[in-house]
Amino acid sequence: MLIAITREISPSINQCELTFHEREPINYERACEQHKQYVNALRSLRLQVQVLPADPDLPDSVFVEDTALVLDECAIITRPGADSRKPETESITNVLEQYRKLFFVQPPARVDGGDILRVDKKIYVGLSTRSDNNAIEQMQNYLRPFGYEIEGVTVTGCLHLKSAVTQVAEDTLLINPEWADKNYFDGMKFVEIDPSEPYAANALLIGDTIIYPTAFPKTQKRLEAAGVKIVNVDADELAKAEGAVTCCSLIFKS
Ligand code: GLY
Repeated sequence: MLIAITREISPSINQCELTFHEREPINYERACEQHKQYVNALRSLRLQVQVLPADPDLPDSVFVEDTALVLDECAIITRPGADSRKPETESITNVLEQYRKLFFVQPPARVDGGDILRVDKKIYVGLSTRSDNNAIEQMQNYLRPFGYEIEGVTVTGCLHLKSAVTQVAEDTLLINPEWADKNYFDGMKFVEIDPSEPYAANALLIGDTIIYPTAFPKTQKRLEAAGVKIVNVDADELAKAEGAVTCCSLIFKS
């Protein structure tokens, strides 16, 4: 059984952090409708979804992915790179301690879960504006006993590593090669995004199916040609908050 932790969208989402996007008004009601669609997509793939209540004081808290890395053996509570987001880890800690032994990234290290891409026992960590080498070192120390290897990946032009590259099948990554170099990902096959859709590299893989935004039809055609099964969701409101489909859940085995 797979569990997904999600959180309702904060009514203060319009005060979210923005790094690479210009601020545009987010329609809160529409964003909430789209988030419900996302939760339903998770349920349609037979996940047991736990929806945490919205926190009006934490604008970005719908993006629960940034607060933790959950593995079969343990979980790491991150230390988000943006100061406004650091308090988001508290409520997630309370949830995850029911499921896993926890390790904590200690100051001054910083890492967002959006920068963490796990492919089996290899964990890639984006060296973005939000995440640093100190966090990589701490994570390696926590996870070495479980056989994980961690590698830093330079990220340019986007918020997180998973804005640039995500897994879409056991041996395949969806990538924007302008933002992350393919050479880091030894032994993997690639589907490249359509160059007219730079934000199209974020897909959420569950089993053999991805949850994928409707906003990227040209890249979707490439994914379909590669044999990837797709459940579509509308996600353009939270995209204005620099959020994407992986950002809105933490998924792990019960
Ligand atoms: N608004 C998402 C982030 O900047 O963390």
